[in-house]
Amino acid sequence: MKSLPFFCRGKVIRGFGRGSKQLGIPTANFPDSVVEHLPADISTGIYFGWASVGGSDVHKMVMSIGWNPYYKNTKKSMETHIIHTFKEDFYRETLSVAIVGYIRPERGFDSLGSLITAIRTDIEEAKEQLDLPEYSELREDNFFTAESSQIMNGH
Ligand SMILES: Cc1cc2nc3c(=O)[nH]c(=O)nc-3n(C[C@H](O)[C@H](O)[C@H](O)COP(=O)(O)O)c2cc1C
Repeated sequence: MKSLPFFCRGKVIRGFGRGSKQLGIPTANFPDSVVEHLPADISTGIYFGWASVGGSDVHKMVMSIGWNPYYKNTKKSMETHIIHTFKEDFYRETLSVAIVGYIRPERGFDSLGSLITAIRTDIEEAKEQLDLPEYSELREDNFFTAESSQIMNGH
C-alpha cells in the first residue's frame, strides 16, 4: 500500500458504544469527513500505528477500517483502539493517527469471544511491529507536534 504511512486527524465521535461495553476494548470513531478521505489503496482491514489525543502523548494503536462484518454495519468506519488506559472518555477531542502497517482483513466471527481473541492477537502483533525501527521512528514525526486543531489528511 503506497499510501502508508497515512496521517490523519479528526474529532472523535460516538460509535455504537459496543467497543467498551461488549468487547472491553474501547474504540474511538472518526467522522465521515475523515473516513471519506482515505486513499483508495488503503483497503478495509485491520491496521497498526500511532495515535495521540488532543496533542498529548503518542501511543501505539490498532485500527479497524470497514464495515465490521461481525456486526454487519452498513456504514464504513475507522475505529481506533489506543493501547493505553485513559482515565476519561475523550469524545469530541482531536485524535491524530499515523496508520503505518496492515495486519489482516476484517472478518465475521461465530462468537463474540472469537472476535475478542482476534482483536487481542492484533494488539500483540501491533505492539511488536511498532518496536521495529522503521515503524518506531514515526512516533517522533512532526505530524504529532504540529498544531493539533488543524484537521488534515495525507502523507
Ligand atoms: C483491532 C481491531 C480489530 C477488529 N476486527 C474486526 C473484525 O475482524 N471483524 C469485525 O466485525 N469487527 C472488527 N472490529 C470492530 C469491532 O467489531 C468494533 O470495534 C466494535 O463493533 C465496536 O464498535 P463501536 O465502538 O462502534 O460500538 C475490530 C476492531 C479493532 C479495534
